[in-house]
Amino acid sequence: MQISNQSGSLVRSREIETVRLEIDPRDPDSSQSKAAIRKAARIIREGGTVAFPTETVYGLGANALDAAAVRKIFEAKRRPSYDPLIVHIADRAQLNRVVEAVPPAALLLIEKFWPGPLTLLMPRHPGVPAIVSAGLPRVGVRMPSHPIAHRLIEAAGVPIAAPSANLFRHTSPTQATFVLEDLDGRIDAVLDAGEATLGLESTVIDICESPAVLYRPGMVSREQIEEVLGPVAEYHPDPPGVAASEDEADSTPRPAPGVGMKHYAPRARLILTGLRDISQLVHDLGEQGERVGLMQPEGYFSKAARVDAVYRWGKWSDPAELAQRLYAGLRQLDRAHVTVILCPMPGAGGVGTAIRDRLMKAAQPDLPE
Ligand code: TXA
Ligand code: MG
Repeated sequence: MQISNQSGSLVRSREIETVRLEIDPRDPDSSQSKAAIRKAARIIREGGTVAFPTETVYGLGANALDAAAVRKIFEAKRRPSYDPLIVHIADRAQLNRVVEAVPPAALLLIEKFWPGPLTLLMPRHPGVPAIVSAGLPRVGVRMPSHPIAHRLIEAAGVPIAAPSANLFRHTSPTQATFVLEDLDGRIDAVLDAGEATLGLESTVIDICESPAVLYRPGMVSREQIEEVLGPVAEYHPDPPGVAASEDEADSTPRPAPGVGMKHYAPRARLILTGLRDISQLVHDLGEQGERVGLMQPEGYFSKAARVDAVYRWGKWSDPAELAQRLYAGLRQLDRAHVTVILCPMPGAGGVGTAIRDRLMKAAQPDLPE
């Protein structure tokens, strides 16, 4: 719907005024930062929604113990109710409010990787509303290491349920501006503390199974986890076509919702390729009249003449840098209105496995309506 504002120009009507609360990430204890965190914490306590930075990506948070507040997250993101949320905690006392028991294997991982980008699936405490984990008996929990996330959860005094702060299926946001691109007018506030430091989401692992089951590779690598636990299993989703359609899925909880579906996707069609094939593809796509965007590793393809937009991705030999800059690149190329994004696939292993996972999900075709 469009309405006129006071100056007579047409503006899009918005349901909510989204407040941007700015914080200097280098000075989280300044009085301005403290005031911003206090305000955000109050919104959370009062049942509202706040996007906030974590070390991985920005999350869209609400009080995890308040079903009505959590429902607002699903609505704002247009996220189907079958896709469970991760609960973010600041300390061990909060862990006991969200899980019924902590398996011994979980303690080993907690000791080693918390606070940090590791989400553990554990038995959901009855005090956590079922909506948080999409009705599943296990809830995902993580303790973020980002100082602002930590201060926010502490100040709110409640665990915070938070998925990535993007519209469902879209590229995760690593900056407040990207959050607003998707959610301005749909959430109460965004705490803007600059860029997420790691840039790619947490690792998700079900620690109640033996061996533990890795649902999503992430910033803690499988190799690092196996150093602590020994071998872990990898979850494999149903092959494409067997996965439930969106309609069907709304009422059907699945063992690993979100795995194997289109996700993290830019608006443009994403084509994954090897480094060697890029020049030919750029040529062919140009011939077909496509507007081509390129995720360009440093030192490669500096003369790819037919490319319409380039994102200088980072050093090919530095997967951590590629991870940190991946989502910003996809969003930047979308802003340049390309029709196709060409992206070389980094090698597997360590963080490279997580980058490949996101790219493969982002490149999946849209499901038929
Ligand atoms: O780094 C991160 O994990 C970020 C920041 C904000 O913490 N959060 C994030 O949340 O990426 P989200 O909701 O965008 O992705 C979480 C993934 C989803 O694919 C979800 O299906 C899966 O974890 N997940 C969460 N709880 C689960 C559960 N109980 N069982 C199975 N999968 C679960
Ligand atoms: Mg997400």
